Amino acid sequence: MTDFDSQMRANAAETEAALDMALTAEALRAVGPAPDRLVAAMRHGALSGGKRLRPFLVRQAAAVFGVAPEKTIPARVAVEMVHCYSLIHDDLPAMDDDDMRRGRPTVHRAFDEAAAILAGDALLTHAFAQLADPACHPDSGIRASLMAELAAGAGAGGMVGGQMRDLEGENGGFTDADVAQMQAMKTGALIRAAVRMGAILGQAPESALAALTSYAQAAGRAFQLADDLLDVTASAQAMGKATGKDAGRGKATLVNALGIDGARDHLAATIDTALAALEPFGHSADGLRQTARYFAERTS
Ligand code: IPE
Ligand code: IPE
Ligand code: MG
Ligand code: MG
Ligand code: MG
Repeated sequence: MTDFDSQMRANAAETEAALDMALTAEALRAVGPAPDRLVAAMRHGALSGGKRLRPFLVRQAAAVFGVAPEKTIPARVAVEMVHCYSLIHDDLPAMDDDDMRRGRPTVHRAFDEAAAILAGDALLTHAFAQLADPACHPDSGIRASLMAELAAGAGAGGMVGGQMRDLEGENGGFTDADVAQMQAMKTGALIRAAVRMGAILGQAPESALAALTSYAQAAGRAFQLADDLLDVTASAQAMGKATGKDAGRGKATLVNALGIDGARDHLAATIDTALAALEPFGHSADGLRQTARYFAERTS
């Protein structure tokens, strides 16, 4: 196993263990106990599966500034909770109407639609509780910056706005620029937030934050481009979710616009852009470099 593989595994195991601890009835108790069925739906949507790539980006970006992985755990859990919520809602009948996610029934299939909506709502809310907790970082200013960053990435000008545009795109009429904008929001925004949260934990100077933001924006474009390519080229078994569905639903994608070969070329160029943004950094950014390459090469 390469160093990179073992770091990816360590990240997934650390993220899973921390999510497991955060998503119990006791940990979620507030004015009253968290209902068992809600906790079960949240756990179904958040545990046992997922590549945990957004937490990995937080870990890798923080590592550029010498922050130890264990100091990044609450921020990693927060961004993964938002991601898992976004998938639960993305799969709902009112959105992409999918039955399988991460090799298992989607939350609304395993439970019901109301439970899936509420599990997503609760994961989103508890993400911010992770960041508000002094265990996240001793400096309340840094905690506030992390919250603002995640809110921007997740909100109406970020992921949620992108999901709205994705649904509007099913009606046709999107230019290539519209598709790129929609993807920068629905997928890119959370990837950008993850990288910037790692940089915030590392108290990155302004110029480094700007360079990492350029990296993250290119990596985010690459990530959704690969997802759209895999929707056409990969099996449901490899992906753990239905494939071949974007064309069926009339989704506006760059694969649709550029064709498979054109999209592959564009993906390679986008990875080059991501790598170029890391030029100011030395070996401390090698993890981010390998992650960008992995985004293009992944098969699941
Ligand atoms: C899937 O994200 C949804 C997109 C934004 C394309 P991932 O491919 O990171 O999904 P998991 O978390 O590994 O299941
Ligand atoms: C999902 O994009 C983006 C978010 C969940 C924010 P897709 O709809 O392409 O993701 P998959 O293919 O269902 O994982
Ligand atoms: Mg979708
Ligand atoms: Mg979907
Ligand atoms: Mg997809």
